[in-house]
Amino acid sequence: MRILVTGATGTLGSALVPALLRAGHQVRALSRTKRESRGNVEWMWGDLVSGNGVADAVRDVDVIAHLATGGRKGRGAVDVTGTRKLVAATRESGYAHLLYTSVVGADRVAIGHLRHKLEAERLVSESDLGWTILRATPFHQSLDRRLGDFESLPVLTVDRTVPWQPVHAGEVATRITELIAAGPAMDEIEYGGPQVLSTEELVKTWLQARNLHRPCLPVRFPGSLYAAQRAGDLLTDAEPKGRITWQGYLFPPPPEPSDDFAAEHTASPTSPANQPEQDPDLHVYGGDEGYERPTRG
Ligand SMILES: NC(=O)c1ccc[n+]([C@@H]2O[C@H](COP(=O)([O-])OP(=O)(O)OC[C@H]3O[C@@H](n4cnc5c(N)ncnc54)[C@H](OP(=O)(O)O)[C@@H]3O)[C@@H](O)[C@H]2O)c1
Repeated sequence: MRILVTGATGTLGSALVPALLRAGHQVRALSRTKRESRGNVEWMWGDLVSGNGVADAVRDVDVIAHLATGGRKGRGAVDVTGTRKLVAATRESGYAHLLYTSVVGADRVAIGHLRHKLEAERLVSESDLGWTILRATPFHQSLDRRLGDFESLPVLTVDRTVPWQPVHAGEVATRITELIAAGPAMDEIEYGGPQVLSTEELVKTWLQARNLHRPCLPVRFPGSLYAAQRAGDLLTDAEPKGRITWQGYLFPPPPEPSDDFAAEHTASPTSPANQPEQDPDLHVYGGDEGYERPTRG
């Protein structure tokens, strides 16, 4: 199938593009930065908020994996306005299965960013396109980055009563690939990580993995979003779940010994066969399959 991926340069998109290529699909990837097409990835320039380039991007595709987001600070411009423009352009160009990625709890907690995700979900489910909505819990990679923002602080605040269910973006990409193969579900599907952790467990494991020593000050996080999270509204029991734990992500297993053990151990120390994996995510979603992971522009 020919699949358009919006948000192809993001955390999830960078895992989804190689997963789709491995499954034998042709990928068209949308970005606001001009990039050269390479291998089976056709890069298209476009901006969902202005609508520039969107009509060209959706032309002749079978599926749209719509991952682009403005995130928590985006005020809904990409999620709501961008989704509205994407749906309109898709309907004008014909028909495609539209898969939209949302957040677990968007239907239960209409606050801030989640309100925009729910509004975008409605635009997708009320369109007359074939659709699937995948609601995921926070990604390991995103939490890792968020915690990294606090690295310079002398003390970290933790709320033991706020639970998290982090999931690996590589496993979310695999789930999306399966959902695309299955066709429009016309339903919302949840996907979460394998375990629920308190903020304290999450932070302490992260500090250990990053070899950092910071005291953790117990506090009660204020606000209605944390209250909803405390009540479990951002967790899911849905099956299947991801299998990679937070601990497993932070302390990745050593590379598996190859079948050709003898050859590997007689190769020179500088042989590529003897080099360690540079990217800890590679053990989940494989090599680049002709896809050059772009750097954020
Ligand atoms: N991160 C999480 O923990 C998490 C958890 C659950 C669900 N989700 C959902 O999963 C999806 C992917 O999230 P992510 O964390 O991978 O996103 P991300 O890393 O923040 O990447 C955002 C992507 O959106 C694109 N984008 C931003 N503004 C755009 C615009 N005006 N027009 C076109 N593209 C635009 C960016 O592409 P360019 O900069 O190249 O244009 C980038 O690839 C989102 O729907 C998100 O809500 C995320």
